This record gives sequence, C-alpha cells and structure tokens, in this order.
Amino acid sequence: MSKEDLIRGLNEDLAAEWGTIIRYTYQSGKVTGVVGEEIRELFQTEIQDELGHAAYLTDVIADLGGEPTTDPKTFEKPDSIKGMLELDLEHELSDVESYTKHAKMAEELGEVELKVKLEEMAADESKHARDLRRILRGL
Ligand SMILES: [Fe+2]
Ligand SMILES: [Fe+2]
Repeated sequence: MSKEDLIRGLNEDLAAEWGTIIRYTYQSGKVTGVVGEEIRELFQTEIQDELGHAAYLTDVIADLGGEPTTDPKTFEKPDSIKGMLELDLEHELSDVESYTKHAKMAEELGEVELKVKLEEMAADESKHARDLRRILRGL
C-alpha cells in the first residue's frame, strides 16, 4: 500500500461526494408533499456537510501531490421517495465503509490528521444514514 493507493482511494471518495451533492440537489427538486418538505430540509443540511467533505478531500489530495477529481460518481434515479431514500442510505453506508478503510490506510502511512479527519467524516456519513433510516421507518 502506497501514497498513490491512498490518493486513488480519496479520489473515489471525492467523486462519491460530488455525486451525493448532485443527487441530493436533484432529489430536493423532485420530492413533493409534506414528507417531501421534511426531506428537502434534511438534504439542505446534508449538502452542507458533503460540500465540506468535498472541499477537504480536494485540499488533501492536492497536498499529497495528486490531482483532485471534478467528475461525480453517477447514480440511479428512482421515482418514489422511498426508492430515493433507500438509494441514499446505500450510498451513505458505502461512504462510511470507504472512509473507515481509508482512515486505516492514512494511519499506516503516518498521516495522523488525515486519519482522524476521515474517521470524523465516517461519523458524519453514519449520522446521515441514521437520519435517513428514521424517515424511512415512518414511510
Ligand atoms: Fe460526505
Ligand atoms: Fe453523507
């Protein structure tokens, strides 16, 4: 495992963050009704978190000598609110897994600040997953 492997992994995370920012913005525009309004509010908060994650990853990839990606990961477009939230939950859980894995890689490479920050980001995504599960339980 090398610094290049870490940069590659962080760029996959960055592409996922750009994809999530676009997905939540897109879904905010598509949802309707009372539940839709609640979801829009949740997405507004989460988009701010994801923007912070994307900005941090961009900085750190550049600082490690890599080229930060600007290409978003693509996503499906379910019609129903339930389908959207289930998809979002899947993505959030996959982000938790990826940040946890990359935090371990950062630790092995002696990148202490990066390790801690990636663990905090894993915790943010885990909170997003919990928020989505709560709404899904009520649907
Ligand atoms: Fe994120
Ligand atoms: Fe998230």
